[in-house]
Amino acid sequence: MYTHLQLRDSARPPVTLATLRHMRSSGEKIAALTCYDASFAVLVDEADADVVLVGDSLGMVIQGHDTTVPVTMDDVVYHCRAVARGLHRPFLMADLPFMSYPSKEQALANAVRLMQEGGAKMVKLESGAGQVDIVEFLATHDIAVCAHLGLKPQSVHKTGGFRVQGRESSAGELMRRNAKDLEQAGADIVLLECIPAELGRAVTAELDVPVIGIGAGPDTNGQILVLYDVLDITTGRKPRFVRNFMEGAGTNLEALRRYVQAVKKGEYPAPEHCF
Ligand code: KIV
Repeated sequence: MYTHLQLRDSARPPVTLATLRHMRSSGEKIAALTCYDASFAVLVDEADADVVLVGDSLGMVIQGHDTTVPVTMDDVVYHCRAVARGLHRPFLMADLPFMSYPSKEQALANAVRLMQEGGAKMVKLESGAGQVDIVEFLATHDIAVCAHLGLKPQSVHKTGGFRVQGRESSAGELMRRNAKDLEQAGADIVLLECIPAELGRAVTAELDVPVIGIGAGPDTNGQILVLYDVLDITTGRKPRFVRNFMEGAGTNLEALRRYVQAVKKGEYPAPEHCF
């Protein structure tokens, strides 16, 4: 009963939403990573990452697709369950994949699957004005939600590719409005992908919930990177915001520790990783 109460005083108590809110208010940076299996989950946990995302990026880095569009609910549930087995401390978030949340009811049913079958504690969905009511519906059912704004990989065929978002002032203003609306609807975390650093700073300053960025500049409350980019497993051209933490590291665990420390100390992202 109430295992969390017993674990609260342990050396490495599990990260909760309350921990993440406290980190935001105290100025401690949140270090997040994606993960797709139990073996890496053990390492990511040992490296002291605060948040782990079972991202639909698994479609690209695990399954070899060009985009995240082919990823299914079954795929995310499978990988999430594996990751959950390897984790103790980090807060586990999982992606609702393409077209798994076209209505409030489907979003709820699939969020429940990620939590009950996958072991996720929070669900993430690519969001905009069209998802405000979905976020509200999930929040009223006490489901922890992360709203993903900026570059939305599930929409690449509509938006025309993997490009920096929010460069024009009108697009930036819309993103700021959307972020505020999603927060008011009940989003507990906002994730910003591939936007100008200035916009990342503005959105973070305007919200009360923790904001985690990937290619969104140094001023968000935390950073996330794709595990395989951090470990330099991904081949080919990499986005500007990626840093290879294997450089100078003897083991995968050391590279992951270097990433977590670089985020905590504000050394990553550096200006060369920003837009
Ligand atoms: O799917 C994913 O890995 C993500 C991160 C890039 C944030 O959404």
